[in-house]
Amino acid sequence: MGYTTSMNFLVIANFKSNLTKEQVQSWLTAVKPVAGMVIAPSFLHLPLFSHLSPSLSLCAQDVSPFPVGSYTGAVNATQLLDYGVKYAIVGHSERRRYFHETPADIASKIKELLAVGITPLVCLERNQIAPQFALLDDDLIDNSLFCFEPSADIGGTTIAPISLIKEVVAEIRSFAPSSKVIYGGSVTPDNVSQLLPLGLNGVLVATASLDPASFLSIIRECSHVG
Ligand code: PGA
Repeated sequence: MGYTTSMNFLVIANFKSNLTKEQVQSWLTAVKPVAGMVIAPSFLHLPLFSHLSPSLSLCAQDVSPFPVGSYTGAVNATQLLDYGVKYAIVGHSERRRYFHETPADIASKIKELLAVGITPLVCLERNQIAPQFALLDDDLIDNSLFCFEPSADIGGTTIAPISLIKEVVAEIRSFAPSSKVIYGGSVTPDNVSQLLPLGLNGVLVATASLDPASFLSIIRECSHVG
């Protein structure tokens, strides 16, 4: 295979609520972990990846906004740490939309994650930037990673307009000057090269990550980003 991404450029596979255990296992036989690769499987499938660290980094798709305790059904940040989780997605547009999560809920999740040393990957649409940052102090901001993730551009094959991505990423950087900022939304092997000159710190890939060949093509395209 012979390629690697830079640890400074993250290629994050978000499996969402897809794949059975068997399908994850066959994905893993097809994809060789490389530095810079970050995998966000379902909570239940995190143990299937734990032994592959540090060749790849593990990411949770969510976390409880509450600490350890009586919160039935919740998976807390300390439990994620048990599985070697390094990152956790919070504020994904699907969580905000289908689970009615608010900026305050997301701020609580960020605090829970950082309390145990897991890096939050905070997803934002343009209209969520100001209300979300208003709830975060500098320490939380400096230790989080941010993703511009326009819901209108999710699940297809065309990324958001480059001019929009540049503008919104600059807006996020004005609030978070020392944080990494990435883009997510319809990233495919065919369009990822358009994102590489933008100075992003990575990409969040869902649909195209489910197919090992597509995901490997994206990794290959990103392998020269310093
Ligand atoms: P997609 O999803 O790659 O399927 O567009 C991206 C995302 O939800 O962040």
